[in-house]
Amino acid sequence: SDAELDARVRAAKATLGDRVLVLGHFYQRDEVVAHADYIGDSFQLAGAARSRPAAEAIVFCGVHFMAETADLLSTPEQAVILPNLAAGCSMADMADIDSVTECWEALEELYGTEPDETGRVPVLPVTYMNSSAALKAFCGERGGIVCTSSNAETVLEWAFERGQRVLFFPDQHLGRNTAKAMGVPLERMPMWNPRKPLGGNTEEELDAARVILWHGFCSVHKRFTVDQIEQARASHPGVRVIVHPECPMPVVDAADEYGSTDYITKAIQAAPAGSTFAIGTEINLVQRLAAQHPEHTIFCLDPVVCPCSTMYRIHPGYLAWVLESLVAGEVVNQVSVSVEVAEPARLALERMLAAKP
Ligand code: 13P
Ligand code: SF4
Repeated sequence: SDAELDARVRAAKATLGDRVLVLGHFYQRDEVVAHADYIGDSFQLAGAARSRPAAEAIVFCGVHFMAETADLLSTPEQAVILPNLAAGCSMADMADIDSVTECWEALEELYGTEPDETGRVPVLPVTYMNSSAALKAFCGERGGIVCTSSNAETVLEWAFERGQRVLFFPDQHLGRNTAKAMGVPLERMPMWNPRKPLGGNTEEELDAARVILWHGFCSVHKRFTVDQIEQARASHPGVRVIVHPECPMPVVDAADEYGSTDYITKAIQAAPAGSTFAIGTEINLVQRLAAQHPEHTIFCLDPVVCPCSTMYRIHPGYLAWVLESLVAGEVVNQVSVSVEVAEPARLALERMLAAKP
């Protein structure tokens, strides 16, 4: 039963004490988040992975790319554990090293590799945190960088200082929404289609490009629509609409504000009592915020409910199992990045951590 599982997790955590650090992403279900030592967005959790260097294990309640990142940023002695190894991210899977490399080679052929007179390289790769360690390494090896939804603008600024153009993957929406907010015109953001020569673009389009977008998207955030926003405004006059930047551009444009899960959380915390919010992000977070803030009216823009099905694969039963295994001296479901990939991937992550807002 739920109560038994809860008791098992508590007992195993109590036995382990500071030997384990449990991290939970905002999108995790409540029964899992209840056991997290630290809850946050993907940027905060990357930092939190370094918060208990003496712990022998980090149990990451999130998805695979986050566990990989924790492995990159934690000490070599620490084991990072993903309670269910099937907890991936469909967006991260939309960019693989082979197709990104193919794109890169075509771009190198088109633009060459020589920096301009100001020292900027022809293209700089930027990967969203939601990507495999191999793609972070790809960026690290080419002067590139990682971003999250909470620092995408800072990171793009950093990249524009060093590159004439940016190749941004895997999330087209985060790339487009961020670059647009920075004043990049849409016609200078061609999308790369790996199945077509030159990504389906002409040489002129690519020449004028400032940001070359990959075709990836989040299946949770693409469900939000402008219609839903209009309906929310009609039914709740004065509602504040906040959406995540993984939402399509028309949705972000129609919203009052957009921001990472942490931004959304803080905006709600800072609002005067009696505020009404319509939120465009994953349902577990929205429902938790609504429960934590009875002084506000908070609802999800999508009336049909939109969980992230892979985040949901972290069931408390798996959490109990990995913790009890640690108590028994066994590390199960370890996520570890190979040394060759780890070094350049860490470089791209460190550049992100050092790029100040
Ligand atoms: P943030 O945690 O950066 O807000 O991203 C949300 C998300 O989709 C995580 O996969
Ligand atoms: Fe991936 Fe979207 Fe789930 Fe985030 S919400 S883990 S981007 S599928």
